[in-house]
Amino acid sequence: MSDSKNAGATTSVRRVDVEGEGSTNPTIPAAMEYDYTNFYFGAGDDPFALLEPFDEWYSQVEPAGYYLYELPLHTAPGTRVDIKDTKTGEMRRGLINFASYNYLGLSYRPEVKEAIKEATDVYGGGSSGSPILSGTTALHRAFAEEMAAFKGTEAAILFPTGYSANVGTIAGLMRSGDLIVADQFAHASIVDGMILSKAKSRFFRHNRADDLDRKLSGFDGKKLVIVEGVYSMDGDVPPLAELIEVCRKHGARLMIDEAHSAFVFGPTGKGVAEDQGVEDEIDIHLGTFSKSLGGQGGYVAGPQRLINYLRGFSRSRFFSCALSPVVVAGLRKALELASKEPELRTKLWENVATMQKLLTDAGVPQGDSTSHVIPIMVRDDARIFMIGEELMREGIFINPVRYPAVGKHKSRFRMSISAAHTRADLEEGAEKIAKVLGRYGLCQ
Ligand SMILES: Cc1ncc(COP(=O)(O)O)c(C=O)c1O
Repeated sequence: MSDSKNAGATTSVRRVDVEGEGSTNPTIPAAMEYDYTNFYFGAGDDPFALLEPFDEWYSQVEPAGYYLYELPLHTAPGTRVDIKDTKTGEMRRGLINFASYNYLGLSYRPEVKEAIKEATDVYGGGSSGSPILSGTTALHRAFAEEMAAFKGTEAAILFPTGYSANVGTIAGLMRSGDLIVADQFAHASIVDGMILSKAKSRFFRHNRADDLDRKLSGFDGKKLVIVEGVYSMDGDVPPLAELIEVCRKHGARLMIDEAHSAFVFGPTGKGVAEDQGVEDEIDIHLGTFSKSLGGQGGYVAGPQRLINYLRGFSRSRFFSCALSPVVVAGLRKALELASKEPELRTKLWENVATMQKLLTDAGVPQGDSTSHVIPIMVRDDARIFMIGEELMREGIFINPVRYPAVGKHKSRFRMSISAAHTRADLEEGAEKIAKVLGRYGLCQ
């Protein structure tokens, strides 16, 4: 398939035989070599011009098993899940779940469910208003204060999602003519915030303080640097002390998105900044409640003045309905459990070490993760969905990730480890993954 960005629109998708005819590689169906970028730009004046070629492609690849996304779960995101296989219509029961962000197993804890039920009785389902108008309940207030106390900052503010926290904070603070420099692996919500802010956007090489230094050099004006606590596709962490030094040198503010690291890293679970002993040197602490707390929503924690300003200028919060009070009630309980049960974090890190060893012993190729997010490197963009399907048939639920979410030829399965996994889950999972990857010659 052509790499041309216009390919999907200017040419019709080749009619492909899903068994492989027409592919540049005889064992891979041709349509598998396409990706979303083929349907991004197109000629013509009609905004619907790309719908038809996309639909043509999609109608071929979906039944061929390409589309392993949006498979409906019929259970809580626990360590074993029941999933409807949309290709065969079968219900696949008891799959070992390595796909959910429920890193501490909190989303379905009885205490959390009970808190949610109680709040439903008092508040009903939704908050029915923007947080600045009628959407703030006593629960929202209390939770924002609890988050500030947990993070050890003067104040905190809640957002409807982690995505909107990034977009609203970045675009709320930065303006046209300012400079934002983010790590090249920054999440889409950071990138979208940068675009929305209209500030000059630059990216520094992943985790490289020397490149950050270069990218900040020679710019006079407001500068914001953005990094993540745990990079969501690679599972590695930033060298914060080095990055802080560079920010100081250039008078840049530093924001850290601890979406995947808050509540699990550090002696008290505050995150990677705490783990590296630099939490007081970060200007903006941002994160989500959709991962380790097993709920939904985002936050920013920092100085009171920053929070006051964001209250006025974060449009993604201002112009959006507040989090459901029911969700907030569950989050308050989840935060309480995460704080008073440090053994959850201990168990998570034990599980991570166990899984890393099991995979290594079985020769399964892993990225350079130092966290509970373990990339299993396949590097075969066309075959990753077939391998994913086989893994599902073997009883494993794990998400394939390919271009453009990661670089070309950097396809991987993104494995999430949870404190709730048992040793038996990990052993059975590693064995099955090694078995399937072994069939493709991917184990060393
Ligand atoms: C680093 C990072 N930031 C922000 C988000 C968005 O968070 P949410 O899903 O809560 O909107 C994600 C989601 O995966 C993420 O990985």
